[in-house]
Amino acid sequence: MASERRTFAIISHPDAGKTTLTEKLLLTGGAIHLAGEVKARGQARRARSDWMKIEQQRGISVTSSVMTFERDGITFNLLDTPGHEDFSEDTYRTLTAVDSAIMVIDAAKGIEPQTRKLFEVCRLRSVPIITFVNKVDREGRDPFELIDEVADMLALDVSPMSWPIGMGGQFEGILDYATGHVARPEGGSREFLGKIDEDPAIPDDFAEQAELAREAYPDFDIDAYRGGDLTPVFFGSALKNFGVVQMIEAIANYAPPPRPQPTDDGEVQPGRDEVSGFIFKVQANMDPQHRDRIAFMRLVSGTFKRGMKLTPSGLGKPIAVHSPILFFAQDREIADTAEPGDIIGIPNHGTLRVGDSLSEKNDIRFTGLPNFAPEILRRVVLRDPTKTKQLRKALDDLSEEGVIQVFYPEIGAQWIIGVVGQLQLEVLISRLSAEYKVEAVLEAAPFATARWIKGDAAAMAEFESFNRPNLAKDRDGDLVFLAKSPWDVNYQQEKNPKLTFGATKER
Ligand code: G4P
Repeated sequence: MASERRTFAIISHPDAGKTTLTEKLLLTGGAIHLAGEVKARGQARRARSDWMKIEQQRGISVTSSVMTFERDGITFNLLDTPGHEDFSEDTYRTLTAVDSAIMVIDAAKGIEPQTRKLFEVCRLRSVPIITFVNKVDREGRDPFELIDEVADMLALDVSPMSWPIGMGGQFEGILDYATGHVARPEGGSREFLGKIDEDPAIPDDFAEQAELAREAYPDFDIDAYRGGDLTPVFFGSALKNFGVVQMIEAIANYAPPPRPQPTDDGEVQPGRDEVSGFIFKVQANMDPQHRDRIAFMRLVSGTFKRGMKLTPSGLGKPIAVHSPILFFAQDREIADTAEPGDIIGIPNHGTLRVGDSLSEKNDIRFTGLPNFAPEILRRVVLRDPTKTKQLRKALDDLSEEGVIQVFYPEIGAQWIIGVVGQLQLEVLISRLSAEYKVEAVLEAAPFATARWIKGDAAAMAEFESFNRPNLAKDRDGDLVFLAKSPWDVNYQQEKNPKLTFGATKER
């Protein structure tokens, strides 16, 4: 049943504790039994200097992309948002496939740049956010200051659901506002092992603080939360197991079940009989011998059954989905059925592209799967200039697949590619060579970001005539402003009020 699904992601800045919280959620949810497994993989991932080689040996590594666990009759689908060096557009796109997110912030650091970026992507689709202030077992910033920072920087209402009784050396537990109980640390490791103090004696200054916080901030309001206007804030320690169960319960009780998804023709409800979904990510096998790809589809409506025929919007003819992959915490299994909110991995040879809609009758086109403004821009330079045609084909293919974005400048012959994560550049060079036999290098480009320009035709034409050296077309032929700095974008926006400089583009 769709109403028993919760499909969510964790957004955070590296080192805030996403891996640790993921592991604890899976342990608590019963999905993994070996403590440290996710962690171990996270570290291996971070340590790898040679990502390609590892991926090559492994073939397609997808097991950690979607993690599933069940608790009290609810199925939780946790989608991985790759960070660190593997931060990429996929990280952003994954957020288009979830119904809610947990934002983890480090109590000593507050909102950091990557958290903020990911938050902005959530905001695009009003994805509701639960905030987890992590690491209260260590010295951190004043909780009021942290909460105010969330409110101010993200322009959200905040509603504390729990309060730390001290932090670091003074840490004595977490007060749960709903029950008035305090979860206490136990033993030498000062972990939460289940000891709940139902009649807590809280030192006066902390009791006062907690009371003040409760009065100073708005009460939790589920509609405001689901509308993306308010975030409930929980304090905890992923490492010491404080607040983890509360996270699961909050997702279960407050986070929305699978949401309807927008199309040109109105919304598709999860209750619709017809099976439909959209591809939000395509993962390629790095081994050039294997052209396999896994396309990740978020199921929007209907009950999917193995072997079912679905028509991808990009292709027009149906494909039979014989060996879909449903994801479990440590294993992949062949899925027999899947419900709205579930993610299905569909093996294919490159026919499925990011942004494709799939449906039984080929009559649904989901919208709202944007391209995101690149944050790294490079010139592509061919080693063998006779391969221009092959390069163009490759760049068009790879941009359509969502590996990179490509921009064809109005002046000059050197094409520009854009990505949001460094690793995408390595993937590009490797795939150009392996799949297209094109040897290319990347050079610095004098641009910092790109914006899609929209507005009335006259204003566009005028802007174009004055700014040709900074203009390019993307692969759909849409006009793009290549900016030297974020300041440049603001400047042009102020100077050209009739135009919009979009940081995203919907397909
Ligand atoms: P990430 O996935 O967001 O990058 O963060 P990760 O979970 O890997 O955590 C980053 C570091 O913060 C790790 O320490 C981890 O142990 C620590 N950490 C996570 N949650 C907590 C917490 O609640 N309290 C405290 N005190 N530390 C926490 P590390 O030194 O990088 O790794 P390790 O060698 O300790 O495993």
